[in-house]
Amino acid sequence: MTVETLSGNGLFSDRYMHDPYRVFSELRGVGPIHRANTPSGIPVWVVTGYAEVSAALMDGRLRKDSARLRAIIDRATLARLDGSDRAETVATDMLNSDPPEHTRLRKLVVKGFSARRVERLRPLVQQITDELLDAMVEQGAGGTVDFVDAFAFPLPLTVIFELLGIPRADQRAFRAWSTVIVGSGSRDELRRATTAMGGYLAQMMAAKRSAPADDLLSDLVEASDAGDRLSPLELVSMAGLLLIAGHETTVNLLGSTLLALLQHPDQLAKLRARPELLDPAVEESLRYNSPAPVTTWRYAAEPMTIGGSSVTTNDIVLLALGAANHDGRFPDPDAFDIERKTGGHLSFGHGIHFCVGAALARMEAQVALGRLLERFPDMALAAPADELRWRPSVIMHGLAALPVRLGRQA
Ligand code: HEM
Repeated sequence: MTVETLSGNGLFSDRYMHDPYRVFSELRGVGPIHRANTPSGIPVWVVTGYAEVSAALMDGRLRKDSARLRAIIDRATLARLDGSDRAETVATDMLNSDPPEHTRLRKLVVKGFSARRVERLRPLVQQITDELLDAMVEQGAGGTVDFVDAFAFPLPLTVIFELLGIPRADQRAFRAWSTVIVGSGSRDELRRATTAMGGYLAQMMAAKRSAPADDLLSDLVEASDAGDRLSPLELVSMAGLLLIAGHETTVNLLGSTLLALLQHPDQLAKLRARPELLDPAVEESLRYNSPAPVTTWRYAAEPMTIGGSSVTTNDIVLLALGAANHDGRFPDPDAFDIERKTGGHLSFGHGIHFCVGAALARMEAQVALGRLLERFPDMALAAPADELRWRPSVIMHGLAALPVRLGRQA
């Protein structure tokens, strides 16, 4: 069934930013696919049913080619781009390309993020976690501390910087650009941030070219110098994608997991008593509050039917992973249950664009949560739930701040 999602009420509303799952549940109650308009008037389909979202993720007729998407969006609106219409950031990277380009680009980095490689990073992640927790204790001595600012943001950012071989000292500038790129901001701000980040990355590449090191950026520079495998633009886009995808989502996962546990004391107590539930608790958090509840944009390359609705060529289709994760396929889907069977949740996507960094994100969350629970047995939320601020984005869902009281240290 198709409904018109009013922008004041649906996916592009303030209400959605605070509580996407209420909006998803209302939409799912009407049907598995919906028509909506972005704030600048671009018509899109929003798919919310589990069966429909997982089938669409595997459907080669839904494509991502950035040049064609840009042309479709430009035709649909001459209006300014806002927080949800991110055509300007569409670049030649694997997330925004189709085979065969996608296959070629993905092959260059996928090995670097394999489960085996990620396991080798565990000691480094533990060390960074401990350093950040020490700093958080100093900051929060005797009072409250913002977990997002003190821990959830710097951990994945430091890890991806280390992996790529970028100096930690440059994190502050990068954090500011990244916030503009994935969040809301004017078209000018977005252009300034992408240009500044592109310029910075081009400089880093030049530095790696003259002094290669044992890091991912040097490997990518080498791949690009070895022939036509990676053009200079692709090189910068790849590094930008890894940096942004590599931390923005993980920040949300860390904040949302801690919040869910603090809001469900029975589950927190169970986890403290049975640390072997750490991995399933992270999986349940991924399902319960997806860090990226809506995928990046796809368009229909030919006419197709989704959930009984006719989608025509060039229609834009958004896949609501978060809505699918709360579909009745999962019994009592709105309950947070760290022992539930979460197999088949779609938070890392599915099919050819399945998240390259899934193993890394999982490991970071497991290490962080494990250390946090060990060290702070009385940690508590320091703000009422309805006063928590969420970051203004449709495709990402995460806390802007999470005030906590650390309590005594074990
Ligand atoms: C793709 C989620 C962490 C790198 C994706 C997609 C999702 C996702 C849903 C598919 C998007 C689509 O099909 O439109 C997440 C979540 C994360 C996370 C929830 C953390 C909790 C990471 C990390 C990295 C990373 C740590 C790397 C350092 C990528 C890349 C792609 C991707 C490169 C594009 C893959 C492709 O197009 O083939 N991610 N991600 N992600 N992710 Fe992640």
